[in-house]
Amino acid sequence: MSQSTQYPPGPEYKMPGKLVSEFIGDPIKMLTKVAQQYGDISFFKLGREHVYLINNPDLIEKILIYDHRNFKKGKRLQIAKGLLGEGLVTSEGEFHNRQRRLIQPIFHPKQIRSYGDIMTDYAERMTDSWGDGEVLDINREMMELTLGIICKSVLNYDITSEAQQVGKALTTCRTYSKRLQNPIGQVLDKVPILPKVRGARKAMKELNTLVYELITDRRSKEIEYGDLLTRLLRAQDTEIDHNSNSANTENFAGRMSDKQVRDEVMTIFIAGHETTANALTWTFYLLSENQDVERQLHEELDTILTNRNNDGTRTRRIVSTDDIPRLQYTEKVFRESMRLYPPVWTIGRYVENDYSVGEYQIPSGSSILMSQFVMHHDPRYFEEPNRFIPDRWTEEFKIHLPRFSYFPFGGGIRGCIGESFAWMEGILVIATLARKWEMRKVPTQRVKLDPAITLRPRYGMKMKLKFRN
Ligand code: HEM
Repeated sequence: MSQSTQYPPGPEYKMPGKLVSEFIGDPIKMLTKVAQQYGDISFFKLGREHVYLINNPDLIEKILIYDHRNFKKGKRLQIAKGLLGEGLVTSEGEFHNRQRRLIQPIFHPKQIRSYGDIMTDYAERMTDSWGDGEVLDINREMMELTLGIICKSVLNYDITSEAQQVGKALTTCRTYSKRLQNPIGQVLDKVPILPKVRGARKAMKELNTLVYELITDRRSKEIEYGDLLTRLLRAQDTEIDHNSNSANTENFAGRMSDKQVRDEVMTIFIAGHETTANALTWTFYLLSENQDVERQLHEELDTILTNRNNDGTRTRRIVSTDDIPRLQYTEKVFRESMRLYPPVWTIGRYVENDYSVGEYQIPSGSSILMSQFVMHHDPRYFEEPNRFIPDRWTEEFKIHLPRFSYFPFGGGIRGCIGESFAWMEGILVIATLARKWEMRKVPTQRVKLDPAITLRPRYGMKMKLKFRN
C-alpha cells in the first residue's frame, strides 16, 4: 500500500490560538470531539507542536507494544524530572530497561501479596475515625489513605501522624510541576526568591530529607524488612554483575546509588498513590449515583465477609487477600469505574523516527496522543458507553474486546509496573469501606473533571456517611 504524505484529517481554525485554548480549557472534550468527527487517526497543531490522535485499539497496541522503541515519553514529562529524577516514569532507553528489569520482580503478584494486610489495616483504621452522619471530602480521605498504604509498603514507614504535612509537600510539588508545563512558569522558576518557587524548593527538600534518612537508616541496619525499599536496595542486575570488571563487583556491581533509589522511591510514591486515590473517589461517587449497583455490591460483601458461628449467629469479618478471587462483583465495579473515569486519561509519546501508521507517515519530532478516556467511551466497543454497568464485564465480553479498547494501565515496557498492586488495593479498599459505610454525595457538591496528569474531581468529593448495621 502506498504511504500518504498528507496529514490525516483534523480540525483547523483560522485563529491558530483557538485550538490551543480549547485544548487547555477542556482537553477531554476537545479530544472526544476530534475523535468522533475525524475517526481513528486525526491530526491537529497545538502551537508549533504537531499532534496525531490515535483512536484505534490495534494501532495503539502496535505503538505501545511492538514499535515502542520508536518513541520516547511525551515532552511534558521531561519537566517532571525536577521531582522524579531518573525514576521509572521519566527515564528512557537502555537505562530505563535496566531499571525496569531490576524493579519488575518486586511488583510480581506473588511478591506484593503480603501488602494486602497493610491495605486492609489502613482502610479499617481510617474508617474507625469516621462518624455516622459525618460529611467528608472523600477525595482527600482517599489521598491520605493511599499515601499511608504506599509509605508503609515501600518504606515500612507509618506516616499517619505526618500524613497531612507530607501530603501538603506532595501537593505543592505537584501543583508546581503543573505550573512548569507553561513557558512562563519555566522562566519564573529561575527566580528562587519568588514565594511559589521558594515554597516548591522547600517542599522538595522536606520530601528528599525524609526519603534519604530512611535510605541511610536502612543501609546501616542488618534487619530485613519486607518492604519495597529493602528489595530495591538489594536488587541487583545479574547481567551487569557478570560483565563487570570492577574491583567492587562483589558488593556494588549493578547496585543502585542512593540517588537512584531516591528517584525510584519518589516515583513509586507519586505514581502509586494519586492514581488509586482518584480511582477510588470516582468509584464511591458512582456507587452513590447508582444505588442498584451499590445494593448488589453490598450483597456480595455481606455474603462473602460473614462468618457463620456454631451457635447459628453470624459475624462480619475483615476482608483478606484470600477473598479477592471470590469478590468478583467488587472487581467488576472497580473495572467499570476505571472505564468511565480512567485515572490516567491519556498517554503521550514523542516520535523519534518517521513512523508509518495506517496510510499515513508521521514525521519524527511529532507527538502522538492515545486517550483512555476517549477510547473507553467509544460506542463501537461499549454499549451505552456513558452508563455505569459493572455487569457488562462478563468473561465472554472480555474475550471479545480488543485489548487496547480498555487500557487504564497502558501496556508494554512502559505500562504500569504497579498494576497488580493497584487492583489488589482497589478491591480491598472498596470491600473494607463499602462493607461498613454507605456514602452519599451531598447535593451542593459540584462534579467536574480536572484532567491534570491524573483525572481528579476538580472540586473534591464531599459525601455524607451512613453506617451500615
Ligand atoms: C489505579 C491505579 C493506577 C493507574 C490507573 C495507573 C496507570 C498507569 C499508566 C497508564 C502508566 C503508563 C504511562 C505511559 O505509558 O506513559 C503507568 C506507569 C507507571 N505506574 Fe501506574 N497506575 C496506577 C497505580 C500505580 C501504582 C499503585 C504504582 C506503584 C506502586 C504505579 C507505578 C507506576 C510506575 C513506576 C510507572 C512507570 C512505568 C515505566 O515507565 O516503566 N502505578 N501507570
